[in-house]
Amino acid sequence: MRIFLSGLMGAGKTTVAKALSERTALPRFDLDELIVQQLHGDHAEGSISEYFRKRGEPAFRALERATLERLIAEHPVGIFALGGGAVTSVETRRKILGAGLVVTLDASDEVLARRVGSGSGRPLLETKDDEGGDVLQRLAQLRAQRAGAYAECHMRVDTGQYDPDRAARAIWEMAAQQPIVVPLEQRTYRVFVGNHNRHTLAARVQDLGHVSSMLVVSDTQVGPAWGRGISTQLRSLGQTVTHLELAPGESAKTLESVDTIWNAALDVGLDRASLVIAVGGGVVGDLAGFAAATLLRGVRVAHVPTTLLAMVDSAIGGKTGFDTRHGKNLVGAFHQPSFVLSDVHVLSSLQHAERRAGLAEVVKSAWIDGEASVAQLEADAEALAAGDEEATTRAIRMAAQLKARIVTEDERESDVRAKLNLGHTLAHAIEASSGYAGIRHGEAVSIGMVAACRVAVRMGRMQPEAAARAERLLDKLGLPTRVEPFLSERVLSFISADKKRKGERVSFVSPGAPGDIMMVPLPLAELQEHLKHTGA
Ligand SMILES: NC(=O)c1ccc[n+]([C@@H]2O[C@H](COP(=O)([O-])OP(=O)(O)OC[C@H]3O[C@@H](n4cnc5c(N)ncnc54)[C@H](O)[C@@H]3O)[C@@H](O)[C@H]2O)c1
Repeated sequence: MRIFLSGLMGAGKTTVAKALSERTALPRFDLDELIVQQLHGDHAEGSISEYFRKRGEPAFRALERATLERLIAEHPVGIFALGGGAVTSVETRRKILGAGLVVTLDASDEVLARRVGSGSGRPLLETKDDEGGDVLQRLAQLRAQRAGAYAECHMRVDTGQYDPDRAARAIWEMAAQQPIVVPLEQRTYRVFVGNHNRHTLAARVQDLGHVSSMLVVSDTQVGPAWGRGISTQLRSLGQTVTHLELAPGESAKTLESVDTIWNAALDVGLDRASLVIAVGGGVVGDLAGFAAATLLRGVRVAHVPTTLLAMVDSAIGGKTGFDTRHGKNLVGAFHQPSFVLSDVHVLSSLQHAERRAGLAEVVKSAWIDGEASVAQLEADAEALAAGDEEATTRAIRMAAQLKARIVTEDERESDVRAKLNLGHTLAHAIEASSGYAGIRHGEAVSIGMVAACRVAVRMGRMQPEAAARAERLLDKLGLPTRVEPFLSERVLSFISADKKRKGERVSFVSPGAPGDIMMVPLPLAELQEHLKHTGA
């Protein structure tokens, strides 16, 4: 376990690092101290200030990054106190987010100013002093400049409120939750995946700071099982909690349901500091997310997904919307959640067929992610098919991590995010041609993936053995793999109605070996022709 402490000068990185190191018995490293040692060894400049003055900030950041990378490579565990500006480099930020728990320490400007005194020995504070600014002003400026960088963390701790021991305890507790970060500067959020962790929901709401009231949106199937208990838990926070249950299923994913949410919210006087909490599958999440995106031009939403599909896919990434008579999800908005909390245990009440359908998206994610994830799924296949909670938690974490990474790279689906549509071209056509009844989305994705693999083999993009491997895995998980019944002219004609189509070309997501996914623009007729031959 590595824990990185970041934050403005005076936020308490060294002090909290000492307290954490004592609590956990993990070794402690101070990046600035190591750089100073190195400067004494390699360079004439003895101090960071001197190095900064002579060589400038970019040179210092490069040295800092190289030192940190070496430290990470050499130490798989430890508490790492970083320099205040280390995370201003996006590469450094992404590196440490992948290497351990990143904690931003903070306190008010006044508290920080008191702690740093005149700012001497702190190059960025000194610089401004030379220009006549005061420390308080300079701190406020740095805070504003670095707000996005400091927001990209697993947790924030206010060291004006928490003494070092309490801060260390809170950090250690958070480390046990192993949150996954979706780093989007000030819209950064965390995904919590665990077993029986729904009891921590109130604490996650408290992490958000001021929340004036809450609207819990669920459906009449999930509400009695889980949603009502969640509303009761949230009432312990003291704010008004309104509980709403919609009709269940895709047929309820309509503008009328959105209107029901809008009115329930406005009836109780929801305001810009309120929080909408979606407790349900992808339908509830998409509806509540869209209602939140549009209410008062945007209030916060948090997701508590209760289907496997929602945990591995729909709750992460900020796509929201509803269906119209023209098709699925044609009206919507991007609205990232404030957090996502997935409790694997709630899947215990989900119909077996629903859970199994969600596994198709897990296989898709593993194939996009790479060999290690596919091999892990193969090893876990029996346990996953039987609903084992440990194996399911592992699979959800893998898929959530992949989705977090892809959403960060391409939030609005202009390129890499489209990879997540692997298997979806035929799947959407199958669903649309059946009027979205009689086949679950995941089942259609399974068939669509088999077809995509076979098309890729025909195109010379995929080895036949790799395609057979994907098919075996889907089959072992109990998912349908027979493509033939779905290759009628009628089904294939629905591909032309797919909204991913660009002109007469379809952007076909072509699999190769695990981890090797390519977008191939194909003339529609050519793709249809390929598909016709995949029914072997
Ligand atoms: N926003 C996105 O990025 C995204 C991605 C993929 C899919 N989606 C959308 O997700 C929707 C499908 O989601 P879904 O598969 O979760 O379906 P769903 O939300 O309709 O849930 C399936 C059924 O299971 C019930 N249910 C849910 N959780 C339960 C639980 N724990 N115990 C018992 N019953 C439970 C629901 O009431 C419903 O009847 C589609 O509308 C699709 O468009 C969105």
